[in-house]
Amino acid sequence: MKAVEDSKRLAYIESEIIEETQGMKEISKALREDDKAIQVSPHEGAIISGLLRIKQAKNIVEVGTLYGYSTSWFLEALTPEAKVWTVEKSVENANKAKQYLFKNKRANQVEVVHSSGKEFFNNWSGEDIDFLFIDADKGGYLDYLELALPFLKPGAVVVGDNTFLFGMALEKEPPKDYSQNTWRKMREFNKRLGLSDQFKGFMIPTLQGMTVGVKL
Ligand SMILES: C[S@@+](CC[C@H](N)C(=O)[O-])C[C@H]1O[C@@H](n2cnc3c(N)ncnc32)[C@H](O)[C@@H]1O
Repeated sequence: MKAVEDSKRLAYIESEIIEETQGMKEISKALREDDKAIQVSPHEGAIISGLLRIKQAKNIVEVGTLYGYSTSWFLEALTPEAKVWTVEKSVENANKAKQYLFKNKRANQVEVVHSSGKEFFNNWSGEDIDFLFIDADKGGYLDYLELALPFLKPGAVVVGDNTFLFGMALEKEPPKDYSQNTWRKMREFNKRLGLSDQFKGFMIPTLQGMTVGVKL
């Protein structure tokens, strides 16, 4: 079958299969205006939302909030007893996310935490986590996974975004003009979620790569 252009496939999905809320559109507009449009794309948001819906997750943690675009996709799929903690290191971004998420009909089910991902897990004293989404500093994914590990329930779902590492994760040798440590850690993160004693999983080959692991 002749390859169909990525842009055509995405346009089909985003115009006919999934739908952003007004709140999501408002956040995307603000991100464009502030020159910070690095949020997940709508079809990726819909994937995460769908996984959450299938999992019926109760305690959900996100590392890397930005203005709350991906968080808004989570909120679409929450059961009434679910709660989301979304962790953001930048106070500016965390405040923006609070401002936008406050308007969401499920605002009472989300807490924007101004913290680094590491600090957050080091201080976590809540119930065990059953869904973890990581979309923050690329060198930190493996650290967050390891720090969260004691709190992940069996069956917990872990999702990492941008896990092709802009194509570099596909290379077997470390790239020349990029952090070798980040490259090594991202490859280890993917492998750990895919094939290890702790997780079984897969990668969804979105343009940027999305790794999904289920805690054994
Ligand atoms: C790609 S953006 C997140 C996009 C968001 N998930 C979305 O799709 O709407 C990455 C975010 O991670 C935050 N970040 C970077 N390092 C972090 C850290 N160590 N702990 C928590 N957040 C961090 C950045 O400030 C930035 O807002």
